[in-house]
Amino acid sequence: MSIQNNHTDADLISNLARQHLVQPWPTAGAMGAETRAFIGAGDGLYVYDENGKALMDGPAGMWCVNVGHRNADLARVMHEQALQLGYASPWYSVADPAARLASEIAKRTPGDLNHSFFTTGGSAAVDTALRFMQFYNNVRGKPEKKRIVSRGAAYHGSTYLTGSLNGKPRDRDWMDQATDLVIKLSAPDPFRRPKGMSLEAFTDHLVDEFRTAIATHGAERIGAFVAEPIQASGGVIIPPPGYLQRMHALTREHDILYISDEVVTAFGRLGSIFASKDVFGIEPDIITFAKGVTSGYFPLGGLAISDQLLEQVRESGKDDAMFANGYTYSSHPIGCAVALKNLELLEGGLLQNVHAVAPYFQAQLQTLTDLPLVGEVRGLGLMACVECVADRQSNNPLALDVSVGQRIDAHCQALGLMVRPIIHMCVMSPPLMISRAQVDEMVSILRQGITRTMDDLVREGLWKG
Ligand SMILES: Cc1ncc(COP(=O)(O)O)c(C=O)c1O
Repeated sequence: MSIQNNHTDADLISNLARQHLVQPWPTAGAMGAETRAFIGAGDGLYVYDENGKALMDGPAGMWCVNVGHRNADLARVMHEQALQLGYASPWYSVADPAARLASEIAKRTPGDLNHSFFTTGGSAAVDTALRFMQFYNNVRGKPEKKRIVSRGAAYHGSTYLTGSLNGKPRDRDWMDQATDLVIKLSAPDPFRRPKGMSLEAFTDHLVDEFRTAIATHGAERIGAFVAEPIQASGGVIIPPPGYLQRMHALTREHDILYISDEVVTAFGRLGSIFASKDVFGIEPDIITFAKGVTSGYFPLGGLAISDQLLEQVRESGKDDAMFANGYTYSSHPIGCAVALKNLELLEGGLLQNVHAVAPYFQAQLQTLTDLPLVGEVRGLGLMACVECVADRQSNNPLALDVSVGQRIDAHCQALGLMVRPIIHMCVMSPPLMISRAQVDEMVSILRQGITRTMDDLVREGLWKG
């Protein structure tokens, strides 16, 4: 396969998209009339633009292409499974790959999370987890116990229910949310904690906030606490030490389900298949996953559920109550076959590479903190964020041109690196085979991209430098 694309293709595709394609997350002014960057091919750590120019894929697509692009093993498995059995109804049959994948996942989940339910992606996985909580409390005779606790800066998906959990103003402002069902706590963002407050005091404050919410709303009305171990789209927010364990302990005290949303953190990004226990020391009731489960090669997500919860449902005495939730493409044979091979590839060397390279990746990114536009660089494993600020005294991002992330991305792309801009932040989560030399290249381009952005902002009078 050639990786050379030509201008004509790129122009044609961009025109067709502008005329006929509604892209995800458009702004009103551009809806159905938008031009986005043309990507024609990928290979390993790189994608290729219309001129065949290689761009390092800094965000691995959307934190998902964990084994890298153009993986021949995944392509072969997909092809073979399609020839064997391209689809089977999960309503009245079971296909080989789904049962095998569920069993392999059970070997790698913490505690007794021994059953999986497969969906078409992350939103459907979190949505299913929430609907399961509602069903579980209905059959247990606790129909009031339905409210969901989420946090600022959270991102859990694009269905009505999961979208209602999202914390960032940009994700909420123009969208309806089921506010009566959701209780929002503060983001556990150490960088944005009140000035002068110690990390320990900040953690106490966050845990107290949850305790107070439980007392105010009543534990009998709260069904679930949903949390990404690291808030990914929120800007790789790593909670303070002990926070997740203490939040988990409160859920144990009050019969609240703990749903760990590992759509980004599972399948290798932090060096483990699941991070909840391995990295953060908690055993949730449900883990949701997607993205890295197939390295983005097939739309698949899912949730691993504890045996104990399923036993309670089975023993509720409501034998005919229907959990009316499932998708035509639940347990898709091709998706599950890809996921099985993907697991093999992750455990066949990629997880080891994360352990070997991640400390170097984080240390090299830290060198960017000498740039005055950079307020903080943070990360864990192979995920990281560079957060820009107008000045380091206030750490205020708002006084900056809000498109600063996009400006950095544009400069970096000219130099051969795609970054994921999120307002005033740039997020990095490269394919897991990245080498030290490629980390050097990435950080060097980022340094140049940020430096050029600082020059532009000063020249345009948007930043005092
Ligand atoms: C933590 C988290 N949960 C859920 C989702 C939604 O997943 P999807 O876009 O596959 O529906 C995302 C997507 O970015 C995510 O980051």
